[in-house]
Amino acid sequence: ALIIPQTIIVDEKGQRVKLACVNWPAHLQPAVAEGLSKQPLDSISKKIVSMGFNCVRLTWPLDLMTNDTLALKVTVKQSFERLNLLDDVLGIQTHNPKILNLPIFNAFQEVVSNLGQNGVMVILDNHLTTPGWCCSDNDLDAFFEYPNFDPAVWAKGLSKMASLFRNVTNVVGMSLRNEPRGTRDYPNLWFK
Ligand SMILES: *[C@@H]1O[C@H](CO)[C@@H](O)[C@H](O)[C@H]1NC(C)=O
Ligand SMILES: *[C@@H]1O[C@H](CO)[C@@H](O)[C@H](O)[C@H]1NC(C)=O
Repeated sequence: ALIIPQTIIVDEKGQRVKLACVNWPAHLQPAVAEGLSKQPLDSISKKIVSMGFNCVRLTWPLDLMTNDTLALKVTVKQSFERLNLLDDVLGIQTHNPKILNLPIFNAFQEVVSNLGQNGVMVILDNHLTTPGWCCSDNDLDAFFEYPNFDPAVWAKGLSKMASLFRNVTNVVGMSLRNEPRGTRDYPNLWFK
């Protein structure tokens, strides 16, 4: 007989917790959580709660953990400016002035922290390698043995992210990689 165990997630008091997560992308070209040019961070968090979610799947590009220049030297403002997204710079200045001049990684921490202040759990989702659109079958970071997906670098990045948020109590989990894919025979690669 096939026995399928039931998995129940519990909180620190042993009470059952059901995750109702909404996706919030921070893996696109600017590597900043989307929407901060439109609404204050705290309003977005409260909107998420008001819609009945208790959790966010917050996406991030691996480069955020493996490229310290990107993570710690490029500010939110600079990131949008170099993409020529000047309306977004103005929007962030209006709605989230505190975030505008933070380095990208600190802005990411602010999002996690504000979600925590609003009682929202976070699952950190490693989406792809380099900030940008995901996914296509011809991506260079699609899966093992693709040129822009080095398993050793990936593991290092995951480990670093886990360490950095180790004590952040509203971070309840990580998803390891979005949509393994590609034109190659990836199920066989996976089993290797
Ligand atoms: C690291 O990030 C910086 C800033 O975005 C970029 O100029 C540089 O090319 C990146 N380095 C690597 C190795 O990807
Ligand atoms: C996390 O908490 C542990 C034990 O409470 C402490 O030893 C460690 O330094 C903390 N780590 C970070 C990154 O704050």
